Amino acid sequence: MSAPGTATARAQPNIALVKYWGKRDEDLILPVAGSLSMTLDAFPTTTRVSVDPALDEDSFELNGAPAPAAARARTVRFLERVRELAGASARARVVSANEAPTGAGLASSAAGFAALALAASRAYGLDLDAPALSRLARRGSGSACRSIVDRYALWHAGTDDASSFAEAVPAPDMRLVIVTVDGSEKAVSSREGMRRTAATSPFYPAWAATTEQTLEEMVTACAAGDFEAIGQLTESHALRMHAVINASMPPVRYLAPASVAVFDAAASLRAAGVSAWATADAGPNVCVLTRPDDAAEVAAAVAPLGAVRTVGPGSGARLVDSAQPEAGQ
Ligand code: DP6
Repeated sequence: MSAPGTATARAQPNIALVKYWGKRDEDLILPVAGSLSMTLDAFPTTTRVSVDPALDEDSFELNGAPAPAAARARTVRFLERVRELAGASARARVVSANEAPTGAGLASSAAGFAALALAASRAYGLDLDAPALSRLARRGSGSACRSIVDRYALWHAGTDDASSFAEAVPAPDMRLVIVTVDGSEKAVSSREGMRRTAATSPFYPAWAATTEQTLEEMVTACAAGDFEAIGQLTESHALRMHAVINASMPPVRYLAPASVAVFDAAASLRAAGVSAWATADAGPNVCVLTRPDDAAEVAAAVAPLGAVRTVGPGSGARLVDSAQPEAGQ
C-alpha cells in the first residue's frame, strides 16, 4: 500500500495519427490545432512521487541515476504547478523508469509527464478528474495530455487552459509496426523544432489552417471504422508535418534515407493489397499503421529496414502499487 504523500503511476507513449506541431501559447502549451493519437500498449514509464517536508529541494532519479539538468528543471517546474494547485510547499522525491528510447522520436516525454501528472497530483492529495488530469499533463509536454487516455485520444485544441484537453474517441482496433532505424537522440527537440517552424516556415499558416479539417475527417473515419480513410489521412498528415518542418530556416529534417525507405515499403505493401500507411514523429523512426490481420505480414516486410516492434492500443495513465519502479514492469 502507498504511504501517505506517496503515489506511483504508469503511462505509455502515444503515436499521433493527426499530429500536433506548433503552439499558440508557449506557457500554457495550447496547440495551434487539435490532434488524435493511439496510446500504445508498450514502453511504459513508471514514476513514484514521495512528498517529503524534510527535503530542501526536489530530486529526480531517472532509470537509476540522477536525471540530467534539463530534465530535472522541467520536472521541478511541473511540480511547482502541482504544488500551486494543491496549495502545498513541501518538496518531493521523484523516481522514474522508462522503457522507451529517450529522444528517438517515440515521444517518451508523453509517457513521462502523463505518469508524473497522475503520481504527483495524488501524492499532493489532489483527486483530479480525467479532463483536469489531461490538462495538467499538457503543461509538462503537449502530447502527454493524450497519454492520460485509454486507446484513442482526441486532444481538443480548445481556446484556453480549461478547454484544451484530450478525451477518448471510438476507433477500430489497429496496429502500429514501429521501425526503429536509428535509436540515437534527435538533433533538434520537438519544442525547438516547433518554435522554428512557427517562426520561419512559410507553410505554417497553411499547416495550422488545414489540420482542424483533417482532424474532423479523421474523427469521422475512426467512428465509421473506415480503415482506408484512416490510413490515407495518417500518412498524408505526417508528410504534411514533415513538409512544414523541412521548410523552416535554418532547415530541419527529421527523416533519414532509412525512414523514407519505410514509407516506400508501405507503398509497395499497399500496391500488393496489404493495409500499410506510414507515419513519423520528430525523428527518423517510422510507424506503419495496419489492420491487426495484416500486422505480421507488414512486420516481416519491414524487418530488413530496422528493429521492428508491433504495438496495439493500450491503457492511459493509471495508479500502481508504490513499489520501487523498475524498467520492464
Ligand atoms: C511530432 O508533445 O513532445 O510527436 O509540447 O513541446 O513538449 P512539447 O512537444 P511534444 O511534441 C510532440 C510532437 C510530435 C507530434 C505528436 O505527438 O502529435
